[in-house]
Parts: sequence; C-alpha cells; structure tokens
Amino acid sequence: MIPGFTSTGSKRPDALFGDQAGVPHRMVRAKGCRVWDTEGREYLDTTMALGAVSLGYGHPAVAEAATAAIADGVVGPLAPDREERLADRLGELIPGLEAVRFLKTGAEAVAAAVRIARVQTGRERIVTCGYQGWLDLFSDAAGVPQGARDVRCEIPFNDVAALHEACSTEPVAAIVVEPVVDAAPSDEWVAAINETRERSGAVLVLDEIKTGIRLGWGGAGRRYGFRGDLIVLGKALGNGFPIAAVGGAADLMEAATRTWISSTLATEFVALAAAEAVLNTYERENVAAHLTNVGERFYRGLEKIVSEYGEVTKAVRGIAEFGYLECVDDETSAVLAAKCAAKGLIFKRNAYNFVSLAHQETVIDDVLQRVGDAVDEMARST
Ligand SMILES: Cc1ncc(COP(=O)(O)O)c(C=O)c1O
Repeated sequence: MIPGFTSTGSKRPDALFGDQAGVPHRMVRAKGCRVWDTEGREYLDTTMALGAVSLGYGHPAVAEAATAAIADGVVGPLAPDREERLADRLGELIPGLEAVRFLKTGAEAVAAAVRIARVQTGRERIVTCGYQGWLDLFSDAAGVPQGARDVRCEIPFNDVAALHEACSTEPVAAIVVEPVVDAAPSDEWVAAINETRERSGAVLVLDEIKTGIRLGWGGAGRRYGFRGDLIVLGKALGNGFPIAAVGGAADLMEAATRTWISSTLATEFVALAAAEAVLNTYERENVAAHLTNVGERFYRGLEKIVSEYGEVTKAVRGIAEFGYLECVDDETSAVLAAKCAAKGLIFKRNAYNFVSLAHQETVIDDVLQRVGDAVDEMARST
C-alpha cells in the first residue's frame, strides 16, 4: 500500500480530478503524447509528466541512448566519462555554464545551489520565490523544523517591494528565483532582482527546472534578462530520466569542493546518456522553436475559450511553452478535468500543461477541440 495513493503528489486522483468519478487512476504505458490507463483506454496528454518530458514519451533517440547505457553496466566504481562529456556539452550550449554538478532531482539540485551560495558568502539566510520542491529548505509543510523556516523568507512573484524588504534586514546568501510563476516576469521585477543581487552580494540562483532546456539555450534567464550566478536544470534535461544539474562560473562552482554535495547514483550512466541524447535532439530538431510555435497555438486557443466562456473559465496563465486555464473555482476545474478525461484527454486543471515535440499542430487543434467541447457542455448545463 502507498500512503496517499502515490509517491508523486500531483498524480493523486484528487489533485488531477478533485472528487469526480469515472476518471483514470493508474497508467501502464506512454508513447509520444499519448498514455494508456489500466483499463486499456487511450488518452492524449498535455501534462507531460509535470513537464519532465519535452520530446515525447519514449522518444527513440533517448530510449536508444539509455538502452546502450544499460548494456554498458549502468554504474561502477569510477566516475564515468559520460559525466564529463555531458558537463562539457552543457558548457558549450548554455552561456555562462562553465562548471556543473549533477544530481537526481530538482529539489536536490536547488539545495546544492543554496549550499554553494552559503559556502561562498558565509551567510545563511535565503530569499525564495516560486516552487523549489519538497525538502525542508524550501517548504512550510508539517514536520519542517522551525530552524529551517527561520533562515528562509518566501516572497511573491513580481513583487518588488517584498523583494526589497526581504533583502534589507539581514545579509542574504542566495536569492532563489523561479523565473516564470503563472506569468512572464515584469521588467521591473527582473531589474529589481538584478539590482538586489548586485547591491546585496547574494548569489542569484535561477531555478530553471521548468524553463532551462525548454526555452532554448540560456533559458528564461536569457529570454528575460536575469543575471543569474547559478542556474538549476532538471525535468526536460532527462526527458523523464532522473537527472538535474546546478552550474555556473567555474570559480563559484569551486565552492562545491569546500563542502559535501554527493549522491551515490548521481553518476549512473542511464540518465547521463539520456540527457546527452536530449541535448543532441534539441540541437538537431530545433525543439525549442517547435515548443514556442505549438505553445503559442495552444495558448491562443485557450484564450479564445476564455473569451467565449466566462461562466466557466477566468484566464489563461503561464507562457506559451507551459500554460493553464484558470477556472472560476476549484470545483469547476475538477469537472473540466474529468470531462476532458471522458473525451480522451489528460488535461491539468489549474496548473501547467506542457507542449512537447510530439504535439504537432494537428494534435494541438485536437486538444483544443476537446477542451472547448468540455467547456461548452459545462456552460450549457449552468
Ligand atoms: C521550478 C521547480 N523547481 C524545483 C522543482 C522540484 O523538482 P523535483 O520535483 O524534481 O524535486 C520543481 C518541480 O516541479 C520545479 O518546478
């Protein structure tokens, strides 16, 4: 038995569908942008494993690289040459990424960034904005000790006054920012973050776990003009295989050698090989441009639905590459998600949907048709 139904919170039936009945619970297979549940029903998907997959499930080049790495033995007593190769490749592609450390989860990699910032600055306090994962460092959930809360100040996105206040009282080791939270950052926010970094001497950690690979080389930092000192990558980097990374200038990353950041399986071959195949595929197929193109189509389509059905939907949030439809209330969003499922679509309610390389324009149109039909039915029944 698994307490709480599943180990990934956002895959709980109530997270996906509220208390709606007749919805899919467990899946057995995924391919491209389609998944199959235990009843054998097929669904289109726009959740893409919470954004962990941007090339499509079971992408052939990634699967082939991973399979070869399994044949090579998976793991061993020495540091694998693939680790260095992947670090060098990331350094070639991503501006400012002179050195990297690999880890397994996003939360772990952000924790490593904070540790590096604390070693470098000799300070403890951190200011955070957005979601950084479940670890004590970033959470207010039950069981988190007061000591962890005392050294963190969480501020709202795009709130310049809150940033200034959080950074004015005590020295700050790191400002940890998710670059996109429900919307693109305002110019004032980006300028204030950059200016506060400079003035306070804090290390600016850009948590690019959703944006890093997806938005092209340089990620949201480059798109919006953040002057990040450390960037954190995860999710799309492995296209579903567990890998995350923290990186930045070589002299700052050197601080990783003056503390202890290490994990037994951080150097297994399979995810390293998968990530290398992901980077090659992004380069070869100009994936980031595809995601922006189909993402725009998706986003505009959702906006059209909102403009026509104000009794069900309120707004579209996010950016082209990942956005969502905000419904008038939580119950309505659950009904919408359940209706979409009945029409063969897994559609995330009140949280991001992600496009992928497998979402061609015709698929996007199909998705929009199903969402539109579901919303139309709901409007008619109110
Ligand atoms: C921006 C951001 N940072 C950190 C995390 C945590 O990553 P993980 O769940 O792999 O620990 C997530 C996960 O959703 C995320 O979106």
